[in-house]
Amino acid sequence: MCNGALFVFLLTLFLPKFLLAECPEHKIEMNDEERLFNALKCKFKDEYRPVKDYTIPVRVKLRFDLKYIHFDTTKDTISVHSWVVYNWKDEFLSWNASDYSGIKEMQVKSYDIWSPRMMLMNPDATYYNYDKIYTICVLAYDGIVTCVPRTVYKATCQSQLTNWPYDEQSCTIYLGSWMNKEEQVNLTFYENDPIILDDFQTAPGWKLLKVVHYRVPELIFNLRSIDIPECEEGTHG
Ligand SMILES: *[C@@H]1O[C@H](CO)[C@@H](O)[C@H](O)[C@H]1NC(C)=O
Ligand SMILES: *[C@@H]1O[C@H](CO)[C@@H](O)[C@H](O)[C@H]1NC(C)=O
Repeated sequence: MCNGALFVFLLTLFLPKFLLAECPEHKIEMNDEERLFNALKCKFKDEYRPVKDYTIPVRVKLRFDLKYIHFDTTKDTISVHSWVVYNWKDEFLSWNASDYSGIKEMQVKSYDIWSPRMMLMNPDATYYNYDKIYTICVLAYDGIVTCVPRTVYKATCQSQLTNWPYDEQSCTIYLGSWMNKEEQVNLTFYENDPIILDDFQTAPGWKLLKVVHYRVPELIFNLRSIDIPECEEGTHG
């Protein structure tokens, strides 16, 4: 048993030396981008909010680039396809560009760093939506992170077809974070162009009349008091 233990010890001791011998030029050939990434990598933490003073909320700005909305009257569901722009500052991930040949931006994986969680919070939400962002983000030298995940939010929206084919339908989706209060993560809209409809495709049968957006402070706690249109008796099968 003693011999066995000794054998393992020797193996681990010599392994790194052996590996180094295989690629001796590795250190020399590291370019500035890799050097910067390695310096930042040590500061990556995905669990903790990226603020030096923990009493300060992380301000997350949101923009919805709406691509497609599908309203299914037979299933009473609305699917909202969009690219959501998330933008916030990670106070731990900044660098001095002149130390790295002027590199001002890096690509990072959203799940390597802290990222805000936001999910569909409609009271009748039955479809599972991811709340964590999985995408590649742009990190700027001043710590500003921008992620643009494609998202589909699918929610129930009771159809009210009374004036076919001239009906107007209003659907509401509530987005928020279960885990964080406004004092921790403050979700806000971009001041300019919070909703973009440039590439919006209309689904067959329906025309988008308008999109209204509100910021509801403390959404979780307010949801209970928001009026959700009641179903008329008999409209539920
Ligand atoms: C960035 O680095 C350069 C050169 O090392 C230095 O002159 C400059 O003061 C630094 N800037 C900041 C903001 O630290
Ligand atoms: C969150 O952001 C909004 C809009 O910028 C601001 O009015 C509000 O005071 C902020 N809340 C906190 C807790 O900082």
